[in-house]
Order: sequence, then C-alpha cells, then structure tokens
Amino acid sequence: MPEGGFVKKAIKGVLPVLCVVTFAVTAATSIPLFVSYLRGETIKNAVLQDLHVWFGITFIISVLLRMAFNRKFVVGSLKHLTGRR
Ligand code: HEM
Repeated sequence: MPEGGFVKKAIKGVLPVLCVVTFAVTAATSIPLFVSYLRGETIKNAVLQDLHVWFGITFIISVLLRMAFNRKFVVGSLKHLTGRR
C-alpha cells in the first residue's frame, strides 16, 4: 500500500529528531529540578515540572518506537555485547 509506506517512512524519519529534542528538553529541565531537590525545596516553577514529565514520557515512547523500527540493529548489538554472535 503506497500511503502506508509513506506514513511509515515519515514516522521513521521524524523519530531520530524527536529522540534528540525530547531528550534535550528532559535533560535541561532536570537541572532546576535537581537543584530544588538538593536544596530540599518544593518546585516553584510548575511549568518546568510539566515540561520535564511530558517531554520525558514522549522521549521514552520515541526511543521504544525507534527500537521497534530498528529491531535488527538492537538484536545485533545485544548479541555482540553478550558474545553470542
Ligand atoms: C535525562 C534524564 C533525566 C534526568 C537527569 C532527570 C532528573 C530528574 C530530577 C532531578 C527530578 C527531581 C527529583 C525530585 O525533586 O525529587 C526529576 C523528577 C521527575 N522526573 Fe525526571 N529525569 C530524567 C528523565 C525523566 C524521564 C524520561 C521521565 C519520564 C516521564 C521523567 C519523569 C520524572 C517525573 C515524573 C518526576 C517527578 C516530577 C515531580 O513531581 O516533581 N524523568 N527528574
């Protein structure tokens, strides 16, 4: 089906970008959260917290989808790491 192929290609193309962007936002927003944690304060900026949680969830989903699309690479890497090639 040509439409299905196009959608699959579009998703596959957008996943690497999504992984990088969602990781960057999650990691960046973790810094003020970590500082608050170290100071024993409750987080004042709720927006930072929301960004961290939602970008974090999107990051996990993007990684899992990308791994599913690249199963051969994932399995190959695991075999290589465990010496079962
Ligand atoms: C780059 C990797 C990440 C780092 C360095 C990081 C760091 C942190 C830090 C420092 C806190 C504050 C802890 C505290 O105040 O007790 C936090 C809270 C949290 N993180 Fe992450 N995190 C990361 C990835 C993620 C991901 C992938 C998720 C998935 C959803 C996530 C979900 C949460 C949640 C739900 C909270 C609690 C928010 C709250 O109620 O204050 N984090 N994280």
